[in-house]
Amino acid sequence: MSNFSVLGTDPAVSAQKSAEESQGYVLSPEDQAWLDDVYAKLTVKMKAEAERIGTMIPYTTRDGKYHDLDVPGGLYYWTNGFWPGMLWQMYHATGDETYRTAAEGVEERMKETLTGFEGLDHDIGFIFLPMSVANWRETGNADARRRGLHAANLLAGRFNPAGNYIRAWNNAPWTGDEVSGWMIIDCIMNIPLLYWAAKECNDPRFRHIAVAHAKTAQKYVVRSDGSCNHILIFDSQTGEFITNPGGQGYGQGSSWSRGQSWAVYGFTLSYLHTGDENFLATAKQCAHYCISNLAVSGWVPLVDYRAPAEPVKYDSTAGMITAAGLLELARHVGEYEKPLYTKAALNILRACEKKFCNWDPEQDSIVNGGTYFYHDPDGTNTEVPIIYGDYYFIEAILKLKDKELFIW
Ligand code: GLY
Repeated sequence: MSNFSVLGTDPAVSAQKSAEESQGYVLSPEDQAWLDDVYAKLTVKMKAEAERIGTMIPYTTRDGKYHDLDVPGGLYYWTNGFWPGMLWQMYHATGDETYRTAAEGVEERMKETLTGFEGLDHDIGFIFLPMSVANWRETGNADARRRGLHAANLLAGRFNPAGNYIRAWNNAPWTGDEVSGWMIIDCIMNIPLLYWAAKECNDPRFRHIAVAHAKTAQKYVVRSDGSCNHILIFDSQTGEFITNPGGQGYGQGSSWSRGQSWAVYGFTLSYLHTGDENFLATAKQCAHYCISNLAVSGWVPLVDYRAPAEPVKYDSTAGMITAAGLLELARHVGEYEKPLYTKAALNILRACEKKFCNWDPEQDSIVNGGTYFYHDPDGTNTEVPIIYGDYYFIEAILKLKDKELFIW
């Protein structure tokens, strides 16, 4: 029996309960009309896209068309769970079998990656939560559950107990050097796979690892003003903190907006799964930092909140993730706090939809304006459609419509 149950007030259970009790968001008539219009367009576009591309595994479009596995590492690429995730979300919302058939087909293609150890890293959470765990939650498919649990074991196996962090990549993306001492903020969105496995197997080891990692991220990633580092380097032998180099943002000490968005959503989820109020406080701190920065850029995120004023570079994906995270956060705060997060999320979604959305059902992808990293030598990864922008956009819209499949 846990200490929490002795007291009869398990904070994780209360957090889960309050999430269930407060699904409803209060929207202005204008926001509601916008939402209903966007949902109608989304169902048309996604149906056409699912019928057209089916079990393809997409990343971006350069000509209005997705191309299968058009990414480094092919089947192992970290974004490959987002298309099946979009399909499971739409299946949950509409019950249309087109989505389920396509999602199952993608998973069939992807399942061999679980035995291809070298190709996988901490992003196994981003792959298997929206694909296999979503499948299990929606259909009860026992093979999908096993795949999710296998993925959770691989993620747990990356934990470094000397430094209390989950190792991010196998090799540095820029140099190819082996990087056993690196952790990155993004992983805060991978650890919900461990929270899920802990509950699923009734085995707290997975949760212990997730909590230890989240606390290390809290200590070294989040600065006192709510801005975040992207990469932290530890001595993997002793666990000692060494440095925080620049990552996908402008440079060392800057504030990469997608990293900020992972922090908002990820710390909210660590609160949801543990009931630890410190995680909620960190989520709010990061949220307030994002909201202040977005309020001065017309609610469209720059790639980095601490970069020179010129050139202006946007990243809509940071907006979509921040919006989905704020909507989740709104579910876990008191009545008088909810409007702050709900309204900020709607401001972001509406501004980005106006500036970036392509609703033509004949063309693939929805949200343009996604940027993979700040220093992009040839511009091919700057302000383009990126699959996770679409995933989090759909998730945010379905949260607002109370039609979301909760997967994290
Ligand atoms: N997780 C990698 C990225 O956000 O670019």
